[in-house]
Amino acid sequence: MNLNERIPNNVNLSEDKRLQRALEKWLPNFLSWWHDMGPDGFQEKDVWLRTAIDVGSEGWAHFDYVKMPEYRWGIFLEPAQADAKVGFGDNYGAPAYQEVPGEFRNALRRIIVTQGDTEPASVEQQRQLGHTCPSLYDMRNLFQVNVEEGRHLWAMVYLLHGYFGRDGRDEADALLERRSGNPDKPRILEAFNQPCDDWLNFYAFTMFTDRDGKYQLSALAESGFEPLARTCRFMLTEEAHHMFVGDTGLSRVVKRTAQLMKQNPNEDVRALGGIPLDIVQKYINFWFSYSLDLFGGEISSNSADFFAAGLKGRFKEQEQYTDHIAAEGAYTMTVVENGKLVPREVPLRNALNEVLRGEYVKDCEKGLARWNKALTDEGLSQRLFLPNIRFHRHVGEYAGHYFDIEGNLISKEEFEAKKSEWLPTIEDREYVRSLMKPVTEIGKIANWIAPPTSGIKGKPFEFEYVRL
Ligand SMILES: [Fe+2]
Ligand SMILES: [Fe+2]
Repeated sequence: MNLNERIPNNVNLSEDKRLQRALEKWLPNFLSWWHDMGPDGFQEKDVWLRTAIDVGSEGWAHFDYVKMPEYRWGIFLEPAQADAKVGFGDNYGAPAYQEVPGEFRNALRRIIVTQGDTEPASVEQQRQLGHTCPSLYDMRNLFQVNVEEGRHLWAMVYLLHGYFGRDGRDEADALLERRSGNPDKPRILEAFNQPCDDWLNFYAFTMFTDRDGKYQLSALAESGFEPLARTCRFMLTEEAHHMFVGDTGLSRVVKRTAQLMKQNPNEDVRALGGIPLDIVQKYINFWFSYSLDLFGGEISSNSADFFAAGLKGRFKEQEQYTDHIAAEGAYTMTVVENGKLVPREVPLRNALNEVLRGEYVKDCEKGLARWNKALTDEGLSQRLFLPNIRFHRHVGEYAGHYFDIEGNLISKEEFEAKKSEWLPTIEDREYVRSLMKPVTEIGKIANWIAPPTSGIKGKPFEFEYVRL
C-alpha cells in the first residue's frame, strides 16, 4: 500500500520523511485505540460512509460501503491563501505564522490538545449506541460521526507531530491514553466525561456539544497560525453533518412525541411508548448547560492572551467586525457579588469567551425554534426552551452558585428540591433506555421517533445503510 493509501493527505506527507515516520508510528496505536474504544460490535460490517479524499468539492464527499477499521483517516487542510495575515490582536496585519512562534508555543499546544482530546472522547462516549439504533439510517449517521471524529483526532495529531517536536509526540500519545469518564485518566473537559448511552443523549450531544465544536473551530479557523486555521476550516465542513444529526434527530423525536400526544386523550405518551416532552426538556437543560461550560470562564485572561497573540479570534472575525484589535472596548456581564446578581464591566478582550458563548446561544435558539415548529405543525401549544445560561454551570462565574431555570439566584436547598424537575432523573434515564430497542430492518423505524424527511445523498430512507 502506498503512503497516500495508508494516510490520505494533501500536505505532501511523502516529502517530509520525519513527519511521515512519526505518523506511521502513531497509526497502529490509533487503530488499536479504535479497536478497543471505537463503536462496539459493528467493526466488520459494511457501512455506507462518506470519506474525505480531497478538499475539493468533488473529492471530500465520496460515498461508498466501508468497514470502519478500513476508513481512510486522512489529513486535509483547506488550501493556503496567498499572503495570509494575522487577522486580529496585537500582531494584526503581520504575515500569518507558518511555524509556531516560540512565545506562543505553550498556549498553542494547549489549544490544540484541548480540541484534540474532545474528538476521541466523543467516540468513546458513543461506542455502545449501535446496539440500540432506531433505524439503519440513524446507525449509519452515528458511525459517520464516529469516523469523522477519528479524522478530527488525526487533524490535531498532525499539528502536534508536525509543529511541536518531542512534546507534540508525547501529547499525541496521551490523546490515545485518556478515557472518557475514567476517574483516573479522564478526558480534559467535563462534557466529554458524561455518559452518552441512549439516543436522546446522542441527539442532544450532537446538537449542543458538537455545536460548541463548531464555535471553537470557527474561532480557530481565524487563527494567525496558518496550519491550524486551514485544518479547522476543513473540519468545519464535517462538523456541519454532526449538528445536522442532532438537530434533525431531536426534531424527529419531538414530532413523534407530538403525534403520540394527539393519539392519547390525556396526552400521555408513555402509554404509547413515546418520550414525554418534559424528558426532552430535561435532556436539553443537561446538555446545553454542560456545553456552555466548554467555552470557559466568563472573565478570562487566557481568552485575552489568545486573542492578543492572534491565536484564537472571534466568530467570523473578518466578516463581522471592523475593529480587529479590540483593545479598547468593554463588555458588561452579570456576575454574583455578595449573594446578588450585579452587572460588571470587563475589558472586551477578557470577555471573549462570553462573546463566543453568546454567538453559540443564538445558534442554539434557532434549533429550538425548529423543534417548536414541529409542535406547532402538529397543532400543539407546548413549547421547548433553552434554560438560562446561568443554570447548572460548573465552570466560570456561576459555578458554585445555584440558579433556577430562569437564571434567578437560589439556595442550594431550593435547587436540590427542584432538581428533578429540571434535570434527567435516574427514572427518566431508565425510561428512555427502556425504549431503546434496536430496529435494523431496512426502512423500519422505532416507535419513539419519526423517520427523516429524506435519506442520505439521494438515497431513500429505505436503503441498506449498514449491511448487517
Ligand atoms: Fe470533531
Ligand atoms: Fe463533531
